[in-house]
Amino acid sequence: MQDIILEARHINKQFHDPVTVQVLTDITFTVNKGEFVSVIGKSGCGKSTLLYILSTMDTDYDGELLIDQDLMTGRSDTELARVRNEKIGFVFQFHYLLNEFTVLRNVMLPGLKLGRYSEQEVEHRALERLKMLGIEQLASKPAYHISGGEKQRVAIARALINDPHIIMGDEPTGNLDVKNSNLVFDIFKELSEVHNQTLLIVTHDQSFAENTSRIIEMEDGRIIRG
Ligand SMILES: Nc1ncnc2c1ncn2[C@@H]1O[C@H](COP(=O)(O)OP(=O)(O)OP(=O)(O)O)[C@@H](O)[C@H]1O
Ligand SMILES: [Mg+2]
Repeated sequence: MQDIILEARHINKQFHDPVTVQVLTDITFTVNKGEFVSVIGKSGCGKSTLLYILSTMDTDYDGELLIDQDLMTGRSDTELARVRNEKIGFVFQFHYLLNEFTVLRNVMLPGLKLGRYSEQEVEHRALERLKMLGIEQLASKPAYHISGGEKQRVAIARALINDPHIIMGDEPTGNLDVKNSNLVFDIFKELSEVHNQTLLIVTHDQSFAENTSRIIEMEDGRIIRG
């Protein structure tokens, strides 16, 4: 049997603002270890809303979410924060690096927060990941001093620091030119193929999606393919 990393069971989500709007309807799917999944669909179809729930940040939904076959639904915020830091790596459209810190420190932060390794070990792991992404020479630069494409690679290194079970991204290439988008895609592809890393990436980029191992397509809050 395949290892299931993520499972959504009949997830429904409504917003009340002030009228009730059904934004997600009966979302049910699983993601297996090593899959590189893209999520596509027109603007407003509910992709970000879904990712917010799958990443445990939004707990206001009906249905069930399992990560590593463990039920997340109903857990406390403290427990969920721990799960996020330990098991999920995030890459967003905007990198959210801390500008006043060096690149190395930025990558180290989630590792220090987790506290599984000593500071020295976390630093070593951060350097390894920067090396893997071809940006170890940036380690001691302040984060505001590097280009947008480099920032996104730093964000990926940071997402990898705790060996996440899954990397989730919301438009991680949305703010990048073609060259840097391709670079980020190639990094994800290598993570998936060489390191068996599981990825779930929301994207507007059709060619990005077509080159992933599986496409989940949404329309009006439902999965219509995938
Ligand atoms: N906090 C909120 N309150 C009310 N409605 C919301 C809220 N957040 C999102 N929505 C609505 O939910 C729907 C889905 O939004 P969502 O951001 O998930 O779409 P999306 O697929 O990510 O779109 P895009 O491709 O533009 O990022 C939209 O109709 C949006 O207006
Ligand atoms: Mg969105």
